This record gives sequence, C-alpha cells and structure tokens, in this order.
Amino acid sequence: MGCSWSALFEATILKAMPVPPNASRAASAPLKLGVNIDHVATLRQARYRGDQGGEPDPVGAALCCEAAGAHGITAHLREDRRHIQDRDVLELRRRIRTRLNLEMANTPAMVRFALKLKPDIICLVPERRQELTTEGGLDAAGQVTALRRTTRQMKDAEIEVSLFIVPDREQVEAAAQIGANFIELHTGPYAHAFARKKERQVELNRLVTAARLAHRLGVRVNAGHGLNVQNVSLLHGVPHLVELNIGHSIVSRAILIGLGPAVQEMLGAMAGYSG
Ligand code: PXP
Repeated sequence: MGCSWSALFEATILKAMPVPPNASRAASAPLKLGVNIDHVATLRQARYRGDQGGEPDPVGAALCCEAAGAHGITAHLREDRRHIQDRDVLELRRRIRTRLNLEMANTPAMVRFALKLKPDIICLVPERRQELTTEGGLDAAGQVTALRRTTRQMKDAEIEVSLFIVPDREQVEAAAQIGANFIELHTGPYAHAFARKKERQVELNRLVTAARLAHRLGVRVNAGHGLNVQNVSLLHGVPHLVELNIGHSIVSRAILIGLGPAVQEMLGAMAGYSG
C-alpha cells in the first residue's frame, strides 16, 4: 500500500495548514531532515506481528513524509526484526524518491543485505536486544579494523557510510581514521538534559566541539536521537550539521496533527540554520 491519498493530502490538508513562521525558508534550508519511520512499523507490529500486511504501513508513511518535504527516510533493520521488516526496506528502496538511510549493526548478514539493497547511505549503530531503542553510540575507536573493512566494502558499492557516535574526541578521530563519510552525533544525552540548563549546555558544548573536530578532519556531520520541535532550536548553535534524523517525536505529533503537518512543523523549527 502506498500513499494513495498523498495527492489529495497535498492539495487539501497541507495547503490549508497554517504556515510555520520560517516555512518559506525551509525549502532552501541547508539543514536536512531525515525521518525515521521505525516507529510506524512498531505500531503495526504491535497488532500484526507475523502477518505479511497490516497497518500503519511504513512505506506509505515514508511517501507522506517525502510529500511534506522530508529530505530522506531512515529505517533501522534490527537483528530481532522488532519493527522494520526486510520487505519494508525492499519496498522503500523501490518507492521513495529521496535518500534511503539504512541503520544497521555491523554484522556479516547485514553487510550482505545492504550490499544487495544499495541504500544511499548506511548508518552503523550498536545493537543490544534488550534496549528499547539505540541507547549508546557505536564504539568506533574500539573497532577500527572491522569498521574500516565494512566502510571500504560500502564505498566500493557507492554506498556512503555514517557512524552513530557519542560526541567524544576519540570517537570522532576514529571515524576519520575509518574513512567514514559522516558521523551521526548522538543527541540523546543533550535531549535528556534539555530541561536542566547547566547540564544541557555541557551536552551542547560537547556537540559543538565534536562537530568542529569532525569538520576539521573532513568528516561530515549528521545528528539525531531524542530530538523534538523544542530541543531542536538550540542545535542551531552546533556548526557543520548536514542532516538531522528524527523519528519518535514526529510520529508522536502525527497522532495529534497528522504526519505531513508534523514533518512540516519540524522543518519549520529547523529552518534558518546557518551552519
Ligand atoms: N538516529 C539513530 C542512529 C537512531 O538509532 C535513532 C532511533 O531509532 C534516531 C536517530 C531517531 O531517534 P528518535 O526516534 O529519538 O528521534
């Protein structure tokens, strides 16, 4: 099932929506939004685990995000297949028109899968079965050899590589050593500290320092985890960001205001970023 109502949606609901203050700048905003649609699949699996179909459909959701202006779609194919299924990513690859970012663990099975799928980019993340969502960053510094091998394989297949890491010097330097195209800075600790001014400033400073270092070392910078329309505002102070990957808050807002408007609301909050 695709977003069969997307044309109607664009023609009616989006046009009727109040335009966020910065929305006119969103189209040319240098900061891109990748929407993580795992959470749509989480809802489907809660009811239809083991079935081939079921709703809501993450591919339809991805098409709606694109129609609302998202610059890319992110999906995490976890080893335990708790939300996104193989068939979802195969359909995403076939149907989306922006960029597909496949989040995955660095395992031989996932590497083989990615080389066949050919996403535009992979983001290597740590995976623990017990965790609710990706909880820590990848220990890039502790796995340089293995990550370098995967990075080389992906680059040979013209797939870009991003490493999801905490904003620490040794991890950023390892990412450069590995040859990753991107790092994705883990914004979870910043988001967690957001209500406490002093702590959040410490976390923000870590992000700024890591982004500067990555830029100096020639690694491009994405960020994500725990971001919402409130806390994304202070990320305007973090330099060199290319893309934010955001899932939970957008899907949560979608329940109240609809998926397209939730994507547009986030684009409005990100607009005006000057790098
Ligand atoms: N980036 C990475 C690497 C993630 O693992 C996740 C969570 O799936 C996200 C971004 C999005 O986080 P959230 O759902 O909290 O916006």
